[in-house]
Amino acid sequence: SKKPVRVAVTGAAGQIGYALLFRIASGEMLGKDQPVILQLLEIPDEKAQKALKGVMMELEDCAFPLLAGMEAHSDAKAAFKDTDYALLVGARPRGPGMERADLLAANAQIFTAQGKALNESASRNVKVLVVGNPANTNAYIAMKSAPDLPRENFTAMLRLDHNRALSQIAAKTGKPVASIKKLCVWGNHSPTMYADYRFATIDGASVKDMINDHAWNKDVFLPTVGKRGAAIIEARGLSSAASAANAAIDHMRDWALGTNGEWVTMGVPSNGEYGIPKDVMFGYPVTCEGGKYKIVEGLPIDAFSQECINKTLAELQGEQDGVKHLL
Ligand code: NAI
Repeated sequence: SKKPVRVAVTGAAGQIGYALLFRIASGEMLGKDQPVILQLLEIPDEKAQKALKGVMMELEDCAFPLLAGMEAHSDAKAAFKDTDYALLVGARPRGPGMERADLLAANAQIFTAQGKALNESASRNVKVLVVGNPANTNAYIAMKSAPDLPRENFTAMLRLDHNRALSQIAAKTGKPVASIKKLCVWGNHSPTMYADYRFATIDGASVKDMINDHAWNKDVFLPTVGKRGAAIIEARGLSSAASAANAAIDHMRDWALGTNGEWVTMGVPSNGEYGIPKDVMFGYPVTCEGGKYKIVEGLPIDAFSQECINKTLAELQGEQDGVKHLL
């Protein structure tokens, strides 16, 4: 049987953590033949550590055959020791009266520290997924704080936006989600993201031609996908957690095990593709194979798409500028 791999999860006692850990331990992320050791990080706060112990008790009570070990940590360097996968979920939420700049600064501190901790103690092949918001900029900060790790090992989660877009297209066309190929989301995990179905196909036919309604794209589809997070909060009184955890599972599974040539969306550091400046953590269409992702290149960008991409890029660069002095 396979040797266990180490999976670190931060914010492990939070609501995404609660929807995520059981699925990792059951083998949904890395395969039903891959044992895992969970290295869980929470803030030192007594209540958080106690809640984490409670989650671990429940994990024990599942008696997962693939769960080869479990650790609770309050120190990032210890939590990331030799870790092969790191899911950075914990982040500072926006409190009452908190300005955007305060939020960026509070998270810059967390992700600078965690990037350094990864740099010092994680496996040199660690695959890092940042979920905690602002996800793209937090991933950028962690990457910049870990100069000894390959920059392409740092990614941000755009998969929830991708999955939201898939389900909207399925509803619009009346076709099954699984039949939709070549969808992607460009840019920032924020309402400025650009969900793009121009290249999408269903059974080989063009989704754009099938829908053939630019007003729906602009006035219904893009706002629905972009503001879905707010709509969930409005309905549930809490932010999306199970769907976010599901997207994190999808992202890591596809990165580790491959996509069989199919496109998915990942936030990854740009190498200049599509005119995005180097190192900007940008949502791109990618394919994954052999534990590596590859940006889909050479797609035509029309005027409307360019405008959307420029807008989400400007937002990301604004965020980067906002944390520049902290790096
Ligand atoms: P939550 O507040 O329920 O849980 C967050 C947990 O992280 C808390 O238990 C907290 O103690 C912990 N934490 C905070 N700072 C930490 C640190 N420095 N180290 C370790 N743990 C720390 O929040 P929830 O709902 O689980 O969401 C987590 C994050 O994910 C939020 O930032 C949220 O905005 C983001 N998110 C991102 C999505 C995406 O698509 N990228 C989708 C949904 C949520």
